[in-house]
Amino acid sequence: MPVCLPRGTPQTYPAARMSTPSKIVFVVGARPNFPKVAPILAALRGREDITPLLVHTGQHYDPELSAMFFEDLGIAPPDVMLGVGSGSHAVQTAHVMMAFETVCLEEQPDAVVVLGDVNSTVACALVASKLHIPVAHVEAGLRSGDRTMPEELNRLVTDQLSERLYTHCREADDNLASEGVPASRVRFVGNVMIDTLLRLRPQSTKPELAGFDLTEHSYGLVTLHRPALVDEPASLRAMIAALSEISSDLPLLYPTHPRSMARLVAAGLVPEGTDARTLPQVAGSRLHLSPPVRYLQFLWLMDHARLVLTDSGGIQEETAVLGVPCLTIRDNTERAVTIEQGTNTLVGTDPADVLVAAAAALSAEARPNRPVPELWDGGAGERIAADLESWLRP
Ligand code: UD1
Repeated sequence: MPVCLPRGTPQTYPAARMSTPSKIVFVVGARPNFPKVAPILAALRGREDITPLLVHTGQHYDPELSAMFFEDLGIAPPDVMLGVGSGSHAVQTAHVMMAFETVCLEEQPDAVVVLGDVNSTVACALVASKLHIPVAHVEAGLRSGDRTMPEELNRLVTDQLSERLYTHCREADDNLASEGVPASRVRFVGNVMIDTLLRLRPQSTKPELAGFDLTEHSYGLVTLHRPALVDEPASLRAMIAALSEISSDLPLLYPTHPRSMARLVAAGLVPEGTDARTLPQVAGSRLHLSPPVRYLQFLWLMDHARLVLTDSGGIQEETAVLGVPCLTIRDNTERAVTIEQGTNTLVGTDPADVLVAAAAALSAEARPNRPVPELWDGGAGERIAADLESWLRP
């Protein structure tokens, strides 16, 4: 019978090796990764026994989705930029894998840390695992139960491959236990993205949006970009019609992801060549489009909105901490903790239901007092850094 060490046992370092710092590669690729990595890198600064190396896959490459986030979050430019860009899921994932394998072979890291659920997350987890480099996953254990979502597949695979799983809610621990992940690999550390929000909230800045009134609580904020909502022209038109109707009661600002802008044009909702910087109104309504907004400005927009309507994952969490009512336009969510906590309502994807939910939200209290979920307290980055140290340098 073969004898093997349990998975997740860090390598035993020869004495000489112990004196050199452990090298940890952190992988980021897309916008939601950036606020998550920042607090961990900050917490590792000054720890001499760990050398972090930041690898950006280049899944997001537009300045509004990437470089401006680095600037706002105070993250130094990536040590390695892979520049893989866009493509189908298979093409994008494959390009990240090929490029990241070279990095791992050259750098020989002691561990790889991946974050969230984007294609770069699963691609790099797979590469590292196959090279026998232990993987740690930040934001592990979230499940929507919907395998038509690319992110759900990315989460399932990444968690199975990871030796260390950092969770940010108790439900995530339960999900992992029910999938047979040993509790010895799981650490409940809290929400790193909220570390960033709490740190930067005082520096959030009101954007200059000529022609759109940003008086506190007098506007709504929309983000829709998931394939399930924007890729089919008829459903996109119906959803935009519902949002236009809501905008007669509450003017809406919709910073558009490049994917959404392309789909709005394809569905005939805005003319080809529309410049989002002019804040165009959709179909004469008070629903205004804008280009994507950088982190500090988006934080300000959320914090002062009367209502947020979104299909994003992270925004459900950020509004929970800011205490802003959020309508999640999806049929399921992996962030049930924000619904229990009370700011978030899962309204489904039927435009008629969105109208009803928006009317109810607008007649309710603007900022009901809500408790913040457990350990969403600004200390998650520190807890992860300390655990990485004790894991790799026992
Ligand atoms: C990705 C994540 C999603 C996350 C979102 C946040 C996956 C599977 N999805 O979705 O979970 O909520 O990021 O923004 O990883 N594009 C640009 N410029 C860019 C990047 C993309 O124009 O800098 C366009 C391209 O046409 C591309 C499309 O957007 O084909 C989609 O980009 P992609 O990275 O595949 O996924 P997102 O929709 O951004």
